[in-house]
Amino acid sequence: MKTYAVPHSDLVVPGLILGLMRIAEMSDADIRQSFDTAVEAGITMVDHADIYGGAPHRSESRFGEAVQLSPSERAGILIQSKVGIRKGYFDFSSAHILKSVDESLAALRTDYLDILLLHRPDALVEPEEVASAFDALHTEGKVRHFGVSNHTPGQIELLKSAVRQPLLFNQVQLSLTHASLIAQGVAANMVGVEQSASRDVGLLDYSRLKGMMLQAWSPFHTGRGKGIFLGDTENHGELNALLEVMAAKYGVTPTGIAVAWIARHPANIQVVLGTTRPERVRDSAAGADVVLSREDWYQLFRAAGHTLP
Ligand SMILES: NC(=O)c1ccc[n+]([C@@H]2O[C@H](COP(=O)([O-])OP(=O)(O)OC[C@H]3O[C@@H](n4cnc5c(N)ncnc54)[C@H](OP(=O)(O)O)[C@@H]3O)[C@@H](O)[C@H]2O)c1
Repeated sequence: MKTYAVPHSDLVVPGLILGLMRIAEMSDADIRQSFDTAVEAGITMVDHADIYGGAPHRSESRFGEAVQLSPSERAGILIQSKVGIRKGYFDFSSAHILKSVDESLAALRTDYLDILLLHRPDALVEPEEVASAFDALHTEGKVRHFGVSNHTPGQIELLKSAVRQPLLFNQVQLSLTHASLIAQGVAANMVGVEQSASRDVGLLDYSRLKGMMLQAWSPFHTGRGKGIFLGDTENHGELNALLEVMAAKYGVTPTGIAVAWIARHPANIQVVLGTTRPERVRDSAAGADVVLSREDWYQLFRAAGHTLP
């Protein structure tokens, strides 16, 4: 498994992360098997959020119950969780951040989070409130590193005006087909071309310039609410045909190629897997080590429907 040294920290992280948003209804044995498969493949980092599982801390709690990490297992993995989304509103208040992290630690049966992310930008954010919560969590040893999710460069700079710890990560939606983060720049300044419109205010270049790691969520999803593009030959026929060709060429599965497409980007983007199936975890891990040629990367980009001016 490829790894990345995270700038502004002593962290080394794997190219893939096991996302645990979908585990709430799985049995203990299935959760443990999925986790063990990931760790065996070098995926030594898991992604949680306080809201995953349909009730507060439900997925975190199912993970804690099912996996029951020994001290040495705990030391060998990175646990990331998120805070800030509540039922019907977003909340970056200091009191909520502190309370939610305490509940996450109890649910996960651990005494520290390796990484805490602010889940989605809170319109009512007060950077000093976030800073005071992060200071307390860091000083008390409850959270070792911090980051954000779904934030723009301006929103990150606003937080940085008060927060003292480096913001190391930004988790954002990115897949072959939901790739405006990358595709926008390729079609920059083209009047009348939808792809040219910026939805993230230059986030990709900002992240590279600042040494902030990106994490790609929903790596196999077409876009919001539109399902998985893998195997969807009705809506993504050309892409799926090409994924098969590339899979044969590089000796992995189409799933692996979909991972490799993200991992090939020089911004060093981690891929957050949502699958609950061990075989897809293994297929994805194999893809992380594939280095697509420039020509093949662009061919996939075009087959996914993006414009190359
Ligand atoms: N920060 C954020 O705002 C945010 C938002 C959403 C998610 N996330 C994180 O990102 C992780 C991944 O998100 P995601 O679950 O949406 O990502 P995903 O990996 O794109 O999707 C996983 C889902 O797709 C299915 N799937 C995967 N490959 C398939 C295939 N070849 N054919 C049919 N179905 C397939 C999986 O089913 P099987 O289980 O049967 O394989 C699973 O239901 C989450 O666990 C969470 O940690 C973060």
